[in-house]
Amino acid sequence: MTGDASESDLAARRGLDDAVVYQPAEDSGLLAEAAVAEAHGRVLEVGTGSGWVAARVGSERDLDVVGSDLNPHAARQARDRGVEAAVADLLSPFRVDAFDTVCFNPPYLPTDPDNEWGDWMEHALSGGESGRALIEPFLADVGRVLAPDGVVLLLVSSLTGYDEVLDLIDEAGFAADPVVEESFPFETLTVLALRRA
Ligand SMILES: C[S@@+](CC[C@H](N)C(=O)[O-])C[C@H]1O[C@@H](n2cnc3c(N)ncnc32)[C@H](O)[C@@H]1O
Repeated sequence: MTGDASESDLAARRGLDDAVVYQPAEDSGLLAEAAVAEAHGRVLEVGTGSGWVAARVGSERDLDVVGSDLNPHAARQARDRGVEAAVADLLSPFRVDAFDTVCFNPPYLPTDPDNEWGDWMEHALSGGESGRALIEPFLADVGRVLAPDGVVLLLVSSLTGYDEVLDLIDEAGFAADPVVEESFPFETLTVLALRRA
């Protein structure tokens, strides 16, 4: 294969990945801002997508950052960005007390089951009927992988039911403090820092 051919293969692969991987948006920017301010120790970004948030934390805070995503195209794009990244369903492969900081910008849009469209962008955007289909199992398990003085940085949209998410956080044994918040025409986005209550 010539140099030219492999470069065009790479460009084509990047084009395909861009189409099926969530690209950085306002929510990504807010999570990055909060993570750069609050992260410490070993960092995991769950659902890393393009790896943009993880890469910013790694470069601006000089911390060890790992990304994970259900979407193999996302894990590949994050690795292309220099982030160590694994294909994983939420927190399943990670061991007890493995991380000091866990970040997550979850798929959060409430989606009518009749309107599910069944591709990787749906996995990136849809939080099921309630908007909390991924947030619930994430909160139920994150305490397992979090070191005793660890922090979770969770992005929450007003579309997902802020009070309902606060109830889930409380049930999981965490106290929540807002780190950054921004309002847009259709939603307010907040990044909460969760620490053991
Ligand atoms: C809203 S996007 C956020 C992407 C990136 N973190 C950012 O902020 O730009 C949600 C990400 O979660 C991933 N995801 C969805 N379900 C997942 C699961 N069960 N386990 C791991 N990642 C998942 C999606 O593939 C997508 O990359």
